[in-house]
Amino acid sequence: MPNDLSPIDKAKFVAAKKATDYVKAGMKVGLGSGSTAAWLVQCLGELVRDKGLRIQGVPTSMRTAQLAREVGIEVISLDEAKWLDLTIDGADEYDGNLNLIKGGGGALLQEKIVATASDQMIVIADISKQAETLGAFPLPVEVIPFGWKTTQTLIEETLIGLDVLGQTTSLRMNGDAPFVTDEGNHILDLHLNRIGNARQLSLVMNQIPGVVENGLFIDICDTVIIGYGDGKVEVRDMNQGAAEEAKFDFLDDGNLFIDNAD
Ligand code: A5P
Repeated sequence: MPNDLSPIDKAKFVAAKKATDYVKAGMKVGLGSGSTAAWLVQCLGELVRDKGLRIQGVPTSMRTAQLAREVGIEVISLDEAKWLDLTIDGADEYDGNLNLIKGGGGALLQEKIVATASDQMIVIADISKQAETLGAFPLPVEVIPFGWKTTQTLIEETLIGLDVLGQTTSLRMNGDAPFVTDEGNHILDLHLNRIGNARQLSLVMNQIPGVVENGLFIDICDTVIIGYGDGKVEVRDMNQGAAEEAKFDFLDDGNLFIDNAD
């Protein structure tokens, strides 16, 4: 991994590298999706190749599955794994209760299924993902293609009665065509600006016919590892309530980092 990373990539990288401390031999690990999770998959691949770490990975998207195989991680399906020791994934926003918005990359459905089927979920993120209140990032909602416009109308009508600041929605596009998820569905992005009651919103959204799942992860994440551009990492844990800090120094001549845990 090159040392000429941008500060944001350094932040993502150090968060991902710190998360590998939690991965032990023999574990079944849920592998998240997105750019931060891609760093994690590369770091784990390095441990598999260089240190002989034996793990089985359950990817949360086709893209992650491909990358995991490329870096040498044994890939199994969730049905083969049945239950996971740990899932490590990125997020688009996290709040003080470690509730999340996910799905910016469109993989929220598999991500939520995999994270829920895990003893522990760790989120890796740079500090820009931190939010006092969720909702600045548009909330992704996965909907089936059949009647998606009707589903969109129902969602917008439902939002009027909920504690949110914005009520507009948009169909996510991929060029000129609607974006299609790994499960063959579409994504509606909800521009809410501020979500007053994330738990209620999540429950209500999932009751609308045509909605498959929404990107709110409530009471699923246990730990957030926050990376900074200078190599600092901070660990926030819901159960222990403790904050642990470490610093990764970027080596001039090496391709990785020295961990100077405080
Ligand atoms: C993928 O669908 C998402 O849930 C990602 O985990 C989230 O968008 C974070 O992605 P980045 O790590 O690329 O910011």
